[in-house]
Amino acid sequence: MRKPFIAGNWKMFKNTSEARAFAGEFLALYEKSDVNVAVCAPFTQLAALKEAFGTSGVKLGAQNMHFEESGAFTGEISAGMLEEIGVDYCIIGHSERRQYFAETDETVNKKLRKAFEHGIIPILCVGEVLEQRDAGKAPQVVKAQTEAAVKGLSPDQIKSLVIAYEPVWAIGTGRTATPEQANEMCGYIRKVLEDIYGDEISEEVVIQYGGSVKPDNAEEIMNMEEIDGALVGGASLKPEDFIRIVNF
Ligand code: 13P
Repeated sequence: MRKPFIAGNWKMFKNTSEARAFAGEFLALYEKSDVNVAVCAPFTQLAALKEAFGTSGVKLGAQNMHFEESGAFTGEISAGMLEEIGVDYCIIGHSERRQYFAETDETVNKKLRKAFEHGIIPILCVGEVLEQRDAGKAPQVVKAQTEAAVKGLSPDQIKSLVIAYEPVWAIGTGRTATPEQANEMCGYIRKVLEDIYGDEISEEVVIQYGGSVKPDNAEEIMNMEEIDGALVGGASLKPEDFIRIVNF
């Protein structure tokens, strides 16, 4: 049985004191439930958040990592470094990284493998740009991204994988995919996995929707059959908004 999973993606927002303040305010509002909750924060805030979240049950995520174990890669952070801090998740292949930092399907695949080696659960992001949607190519694009990303992963790894369907045209634009559009694509992603790994494995994968998820639309999105969770950008920055999404 898949647990609903709400994750915040802070992107490049909040310094350490702001992160600590968020944790204090959020935990005052948060009650453990059967919803899995995580905050994916900038690298420099991870240790402070790990301490602040403590035993509350709120999980911690990073937003990127390098695919090599270690080496002369100035400015990069390894999966082992994240593991040492106690990071539970790492967003991999976010469209902003694909768009601005030359992330490719190949590097995404390498990062997924490395994350699993270190016991970190990847939140794999896939999604089409507006041009591709308008051309009717969204399923094709998402299928290709998903297949390339999971290449070589074991069935056990796939079982614990999280995938976020994030149509690029719905990110930070206030333009949400309709719940039906989001639902349809999340179902399609599961079908793509089923074709590779079979239904027993694909049924375990948590599939989130991301793109302008807000307190006011979270319930409708979460009620869709194929959608198991949300990856929340802007609305995860304010404790009072994020808690409303968590408590959808
Ligand atoms: P917004 O919720 O701000 O649209 O961002 C979505 C996103 O990119 C989450 O990873």
